[in-house]
Amino acid sequence: MRHILVVGIGTGNPEHLTVQAINALNRADVLFVPTKGRKKVDLAEVRRDIIARYVTNPASRTVEFALPVRQVEGRSYVGGVDEWHAAIAETYVRLFLEELPEDGTAGLLVWGDPMLYDSTLRILERVRATGKVAFDTEVIPGITSIQALCASHRIPLNLVGKPVEITTGRRLHESFPHRSETAVVMLDGEQAFTKVTDPDAMIYWGAYLGSPDEVILSGRAVECAGEIARRRAEEREKHGWIMDIYLMQKGADFDDE
Ligand SMILES: C[S@@+](CC[C@H](N)C(=O)[O-])C[C@H]1O[C@@H](n2cnc3c(N)ncnc32)[C@H](O)[C@@H]1O
Repeated sequence: MRHILVVGIGTGNPEHLTVQAINALNRADVLFVPTKGRKKVDLAEVRRDIIARYVTNPASRTVEFALPVRQVEGRSYVGGVDEWHAAIAETYVRLFLEELPEDGTAGLLVWGDPMLYDSTLRILERVRATGKVAFDTEVIPGITSIQALCASHRIPLNLVGKPVEITTGRRLHESFPHRSETAVVMLDGEQAFTKVTDPDAMIYWGAYLGSPDEVILSGRAVECAGEIARRRAEEREKHGWIMDIYLMQKGADFDDE
């Protein structure tokens, strides 16, 4: 049976790799590295660096492949994502059948951790459901962008005894600050933080976390949203893409005692 290792690689710093992840990469006969698009090209470079640094298994080979790009034109959000996942599943079917012997082990190097806003695991279930290729999976956890953000700002994620909500820019207005006093926002293409008007809300923002290009800014959201939006636009222009995340917080430890 083919064996697929789904390996969390952290968020841009090769030193995020755990010992478990390094050992898993060295167990793989084939390592699959996605490319395509300027962002993917830069992120492929991080994956190549990780492989060059840590993989000492002489029998290991790397296969680079073009990951299908999500189409948005004329599609609903959900419809577009569903179609995109189906296209990636077809790509995996082909790769597993063509590049991996029946008793072989492959490694998929997943950004951050595979359980957080990443669809590799659900796409693998789609691949299995096609019935075209049989395999089992093993998941190796990685450092997430949430951990990288809190570490860079030197802050705890939660207020004492209080919950945290993880959401997207599109849905921030549903949760913060009325439902959750702490919200982590990922995948925000619309700079939802600029719409937060609560004068007590704090923001802790970071882009390219873990990489040499890392930028962090923090402060009272109403006061520094403009500066963050400006810096974000500048960085995006410079690199051709951006990955950023932020934590919005209101309230304080022990203020509900
Ligand atoms: C598709 S999700 C992948 C998340 C990933 N699995 C993780 O564990 O962090 C991509 C989003 O994660 C966040 N992200 C990932 N890496 C990041 C980084 N190095 N710096 C800032 N944000 C990052 C951004 O919000 C980005 O839009």
